[in-house]
Amino acid sequence: MSSTQRKPEEDMAKEKLRKEETLEMRRRLIGQSCRLFYSNEPVKIVRARGQYLFDENGMRYLDCISNVHHVGHCHPSITKAAAAQMDQLNTNTRFLHDNIVLYADRLAATLPEKLCVFYFVNSGSEANDLALRLAQQYTQHEDVIVLDHAYHGHLMSLIDISPYKFRKLAGQKEWVHVAPLPDTYRGMYTENHPNPGQAYADTVKDLIEDVHKKGRKISAFFAESLPSVGGQILLPQGYSAKVAEYVRSAGGVFVADEVQTGFGRVGSHFWAFQLQGDDFCPDIVTMGKPMGNGHPLACVATTAEIAGAFTANGVEYFNTFGGNPVSCAIGLAVLDVMEQEDLRGNAIRVGAHLKALLTKLKTRHQIIGDVRGVGLFVGFELVKDKEQKTPATETAAWLVKRLKEEDQICVSTDGPWENVVKFKPPMCFSMEDAELVVCCIDRILKDMDAKDL
Ligand SMILES: Cc1ncc(COP(=O)(O)O)c(C=O)c1O
Repeated sequence: MSSTQRKPEEDMAKEKLRKEETLEMRRRLIGQSCRLFYSNEPVKIVRARGQYLFDENGMRYLDCISNVHHVGHCHPSITKAAAAQMDQLNTNTRFLHDNIVLYADRLAATLPEKLCVFYFVNSGSEANDLALRLAQQYTQHEDVIVLDHAYHGHLMSLIDISPYKFRKLAGQKEWVHVAPLPDTYRGMYTENHPNPGQAYADTVKDLIEDVHKKGRKISAFFAESLPSVGGQILLPQGYSAKVAEYVRSAGGVFVADEVQTGFGRVGSHFWAFQLQGDDFCPDIVTMGKPMGNGHPLACVATTAEIAGAFTANGVEYFNTFGGNPVSCAIGLAVLDVMEQEDLRGNAIRVGAHLKALLTKLKTRHQIIGDVRGVGLFVGFELVKDKEQKTPATETAAWLVKRLKEEDQICVSTDGPWENVVKFKPPMCFSMEDAELVVCCIDRILKDMDAKDL
């Protein structure tokens, strides 16, 4: 158990009362659809540093969840850059300012040359909503293809293209088409298929033909570069280039949602779409979460042609907060810290170690059906039996609960059956953190085996 500077008993009793009060106020004042982690026994976090969160009693938790606090919670270089710029000026993009152009220039250097025009916004949802507008304006088509189980944001336009949400709500709109998730573990084509990338891309081709038969036209194919809500899925090689070819020949564009996966999370590349090889480049890339290390900062990158079509409608694009000098100062500082601390290198080394440890664990515990991921974007899937791959949803929830209660380790689950335990921690996650987590998982799973649960 890891705890630091715990408070005296008397103070802890006071904190307990205060926490109960906070919980009561939260229930009364905040919409109940805004859920808490560990809803039966929520954690109150009062400060954080690096990959660690501290509760009101000084108890330390290891954060394996937050891909937002990318370079580490409350990194001093980020808070310093933010405070200095806040002290100087914070206007909007209608005034000329260095920060926005310097930042766009730095982002351009990370992307293929053709993605050279940037729109700054405040959230991943805003970025995807704008991407949808850009695609529809450029192509003059309406329909969108998305991957099954995808989530692209909380705006109405994005609920419409997020099967993960719309299946629980009003259902599928006639302009939205769902392609199978290219999951080579439990999808329609697995690793045993000679070319799963081509086979899954062909499902998109078939879908486009069906759409055309209905007299409709494709504006965009939207996909996360590594589907995360779908269960930490690695797209099979060749998939994106083939899909892009089919979508473009139908007059549509390829939108890569890098809101979770961008900014070096995969280690070997700055953008996860680059894992698909040099012959693939999306037409639009959306980014968010890690960009501002917790500050609301997001962006859309696109080509000069698509941006030109958007400009040609004659309507100004104005976003009150998007791209303001403070946001851009923070964005620049995040890029600086990533380089200074070699966080991509860390993601390669620690991610590989974590994956290797989990793979070893898989040989000891029948319940681990699959271990997958790249860099610090790793997941393992729990199954009741390896043949049928029946999702072990309850065990996954139980493991998450015990890791929090017994070891103060925060992990979460994802995937259509919530049976994929996922890791996407701050990029400063260390070798020791990886070893600790795997050791604790091993202990809990052994205990479960002993009790025959
Ligand atoms: C892949 C993906 N796209 C878009 C979004 C929406 O981002 P935001 O919550 O910043 O609006 C999310 C949020 O979880 C996401 O995971």
